Amino acid sequence: MRINVFLAILAILATSVGDLVQPPSNGLTQILASYPSETHWQPNFSTDIIPIPCHSHNDYEQPIPLYLALAAGCVSAEVDIHARGRHAKDLYVGHNPHELDRGMTLRGLYLDPLKAILEGQNSNAGEGVMNGVFSDSPETSLTLLIDFRDVPKRTWDLFNTQIEDLRQKGWLTFWKSETGVVQRPVTIVASGYASFEDVVANTTYRDIFYDAPLTELGKPNVPYDSTNSYYASVGMDTAIGRVEEQFTTEQNKIMVEQIQKAASFGLKTRYWGGPSLPKIVNHKLWENLISSGASVLNVDDLVSVKEFFDLSR
Ligand SMILES: *[C@@H]1O[C@H](CO)[C@@H](O)[C@H](O)[C@H]1NC(C)=O
Ligand SMILES: *[C@@H]1O[C@H](CO)[C@@H](O)[C@H](O)[C@H]1NC(C)=O
Repeated sequence: MRINVFLAILAILATSVGDLVQPPSNGLTQILASYPSETHWQPNFSTDIIPIPCHSHNDYEQPIPLYLALAAGCVSAEVDIHARGRHAKDLYVGHNPHELDRGMTLRGLYLDPLKAILEGQNSNAGEGVMNGVFSDSPETSLTLLIDFRDVPKRTWDLFNTQIEDLRQKGWLTFWKSETGVVQRPVTIVASGYASFEDVVANTTYRDIFYDAPLTELGKPNVPYDSTNSYYASVGMDTAIGRVEEQFTTEQNKIMVEQIQKAASFGLKTRYWGGPSLPKIVNHKLWENLISSGASVLNVDDLVSVKEFFDLSR
């Protein structure tokens, strides 16, 4: 096992700061320890993991995609996808189109594992019960933010086909005109070049929600609401201007207004980007974001965000 993978696992599994002695003995621990063997699920999969409002930004760049985010308790993860041309047969995961790896597909890294995890989590589920990925919080839905990086139509069609398994199992949060939004173990949100027209094309059923532009919510007649969108997102600089070390009073005020605006549309707020700060300073900033009502912290450092929530308990 590569050393950075090993260290990442150790750090995530620490139950609290400085405590590396007794990590939770759950299925995820086993899977991480034997990664990349083919096991996607083990009994007691995520026992003792407390979900935290963390969004694993570009999650595929983690030493172990998906599983480390789950071990940290993140309720949301972001995956950039590429169709590579009009006749693409698969969706590749990565940031830069020139650096894609044939072995890194959306199916291999996310959709198949999620299917196996949910099958495992629900193998003994009673009639009408549907468990999510978090054993101790089965009603928590995992949000998958899919960032479309190219050829929107082809990407949409392929993606829509590839989530059919999860859809058939009933594991996707959906909206129907008769029922409204019904939450299920996985909530899919399309971002980047995904088109809003594709999201709303079906006027009676949806299970791919849009990542609405937060700063446009103030305009007249915006079409975004909880029947077609989930997050309202924006780059932090665009939203409130450059952040030095902490938010100014004025920035805080703007942020609270934006968050309330999003909430009035039934949407959850996600700020991405923001300054790179030393840990202590950054934790202060996160504290501020959470107390202002931001729905998730958009993070690269899963260890730090887990530590932040461990400390604030
Ligand atoms: C799962 O956890 C329960 C309670 O801690 C334990 O009794 C059981 O043996 C565990 N199952 C497996 C397969 O490890
Ligand atoms: C909308 O989705 C439902 C459920 O998948 C499907 O039965 C229906 O045909 C779709 N309608 C349109 C117009 O695509």
